[in-house]
Parts: sequence; C-alpha cells; structure tokens
Amino acid sequence: MRQPTRWEQIGQANPDRSVWYIERFRAMAAQGADLAGEARLIDAMVPRGSRILDAGSGPGRVGGELARRGHVVVGVDVDPLLVEAAQAEHPESTWLVGDLAELDLDDRFDIAVMAGNVLTFVAEGTEVEVLRRIGNVLTPEGRLVIGFGAGRGYAFDRLPDDAGAAGLRIDQRFSTWDLRPFGPGSEFLVAVLSRA
Ligand SMILES: C[S@@+](CC[C@H](N)C(=O)[O-])C[C@H]1O[C@@H](n2cnc3c(N)ncnc32)[C@H](O)[C@@H]1O
Repeated sequence: MRQPTRWEQIGQANPDRSVWYIERFRAMAAQGADLAGEARLIDAMVPRGSRILDAGSGPGRVGGELARRGHVVVGVDVDPLLVEAAQAEHPESTWLVGDLAELDLDDRFDIAVMAGNVLTFVAEGTEVEVLRRIGNVLTPEGRLVIGFGAGRGYAFDRLPDDAGAAGLRIDQRFSTWDLRPFGPGSEFLVAVLSRA
C-alpha cells in the first residue's frame, strides 16, 4: 500500500490546510507579491516551448507561470484539492493527481522543477524513489531543479547520496532562486541535477 506523504499526514491532522494554502497564494497574488522567482530561473534554463514537469505542483503557481511563458507544462501532485485549483486557474496545462514515488509517464521532459519544499513533504524514506522516478522521465540532457529549506526534516547533506542512488548528480548549488552562492550557513538550497 502507498505510504502517505508528509503533506497528506499534515492534512489529515488539519483538514482545512489545503484550502488555506490555495487561498494564501491567491491573496498574495492579488496583493501583487512576486510569486514567479522559481519560474524565472527555470524559464532561463530552457528554450521557449520546452516540456516541463512541475513535480509537486500544488495549485500550479510555478507551472502556471511557465505555461504563460510559452512552455508545455505537466504538473503532478498528490493533493487532489490543489490539483483541482491548478486545473481551474491554469487550464492550458495538464495537472495530474499522483504520488511522485509512483511517477510513471510516457512523456519526457527537458526540465523538472520541485519548488516549495516538495522534497521535505514526500513520505519518509521515499526520497530516492521520488528522485529516481523524476530522473526517468527526463530527456538524456534534461535537468531537475530542487529547492527546499533547512530544518524541515530533510538535511541538505542527504541530497548528494540520495541523488547518486537515484542515478542523478548535483551539478550546481545555490542558496536562492536568483542564484546567490550556497555556503555552510545557507538556510535554503537550490540544487541543479542532471542524469549521472
Ligand atoms: C508547499 S507545497 C509546494 C507546491 C508548489 N510546488 C509551489 O511551490 O507552489 C508542497 C507540495 O508537495 C506535494 N507533494 C509532497 N509529496 C508529494 C509526492 N510524493 N507526490 C506528489 N506531490 C507531493 C504536496 O501535495 C504539496 O502540494
């Protein structure tokens, strides 16, 4: 049986969480907050019209912006309420309910993005499988960009070994989505990975 993700476990304890999350980002967008930092980086890494996987897409904040910038986006997320919101707000893209630990798509992607701490919300112990499954749907030259914060139950120094076990390697590390250097005191990691 599929192991519930940490995101789902938190949601079971707090049933209003997903609606709260959707509303929170809608309110920030309405107030003019800059919610496109991750999408800007991904957009700069690939040619126009690229195929992009938004892994753990939530309500489609990142993938929706990438579609608006002319890419072909498929989003996958385990939370049906968030996927419904993505479908309503960004109908030009494909939004699928699914666990990344079971990801099995025929599509191949030029780049995959895992923004918003997704890797810290997968089911404990499935990190390698999630990375492996995403790696499997990348083109040979494809890349995966992962961003997550410190103190969320998945230490930065676990990523190199987990990536290696998943057939990926870390090419670059930054501390922000606008590419500030990563160092010992960094509170956030943006890692660019490719197939080993
Ligand atoms: C904080 S939200 C980030 C959403 C989106 N990436 C963003 O940045 O706006 C974390 C998301 O990860 C998703 N998630 C966590 N584990 C997952 C898994 N194993 N498979 C698919 N989605 C997962 C959750 O459902 C949730 O939507």
